[in-house]
Amino acid sequence: MFTRHRRLRKNQVVRDMVRETVLNKQDFIYPLFVVEGENIKKEIPSLENNYHYSVDRLHEIVEELKEAGVKAVILFGIPGYKDEVGTSAFEENGIIQKAIRKLKELNPELFIITDVCMCEYTSHGHCGILHDHEVDNDETIKYIAKIALSHARAGADMVAPSDMMDGRVEAIRNSLDKNGFKNVSIMAYSAKYCSAFYGPFREAADSSPKFGNRKGYQMDPANIREAMLEIEDDIKEGADVIMVKPALPYLDVIRWARDRFDLPVAAYNVSGEFAMVKAASKAGLIDEKAIVKEMLTCIKRAGAGMIITYYAMDICRWIKEENN
Ligand code: PBG
Repeated sequence: MFTRHRRLRKNQVVRDMVRETVLNKQDFIYPLFVVEGENIKKEIPSLENNYHYSVDRLHEIVEELKEAGVKAVILFGIPGYKDEVGTSAFEENGIIQKAIRKLKELNPELFIITDVCMCEYTSHGHCGILHDHEVDNDETIKYIAKIALSHARAGADMVAPSDMMDGRVEAIRNSLDKNGFKNVSIMAYSAKYCSAFYGPFREAADSSPKFGNRKGYQMDPANIREAMLEIEDDIKEGADVIMVKPALPYLDVIRWARDRFDLPVAAYNVSGEFAMVKAASKAGLIDEKAIVKEMLTCIKRAGAGMIITYYAMDICRWIKEENN
């Protein structure tokens, strides 16, 4: 006697009823790049169909997000100048600070997460303060806390440190609490790997290190137990959400995180993952819509309840289409 598993695959109605993982539009967070300057909406060559916006044209993307049904963004800034200590990252009138104020004015409901890091703002392109060609951990976390605070002051709902310094979550939490931002939450890029999948992003954000690499602070792709230690520490230090990044080659890390910890788990479906799908679909090798739905469903099935993806607007539109 064998079991007839196919009974529950008989037609769409029953398949829909037994489906274990369903995508919702509130699962998705859209990465948004803001640049200094005026009247700019310029396609990012490495990330097709994604754009650099100047603050005065943000209303266009706000409308588009609303129409697609995307409720949250994560902001990245391309500043007007860079220096050794990333000053443009924490100025009151820095690009991110201006963008947050503008976005909140355009749509107070839009949930604003900010990427907190230094690599877009430092002249050397590393994620922190250098000492003898090494990123100085303890010096850097003071700056990271300052950047996060400046984002909170501008109106950010959630800050997301992506620098991978030790102790940054605690430093941010202390500084937010001391300054009256107890309700600004922290999404920690806890298990952020030193990945070749960030290539298209670094082109988009002009954030490649000018020498060396990020292996001294980002994680070795070979390690998963170490990722659990990173997550555990971020939780102890006060993280509200933990993140695994990249997503697709790291589904096992997402699953371990989901099984071991009770905080919300986010996953970042990064630029290289996006660019590969785009390139293959442009070459006519795959069906883009089907692939995107499948990969995002699998990231959610692995355990991520929040997914950052350059496909956020597309998937939300496709979900809406299906529900009609
Ligand atoms: C900043 C940062 C990076 C990404 C998000 N925040 C780049 C990096 O660490 O080099 C990558 C996102 C992507 O590839 O989509 N440190």
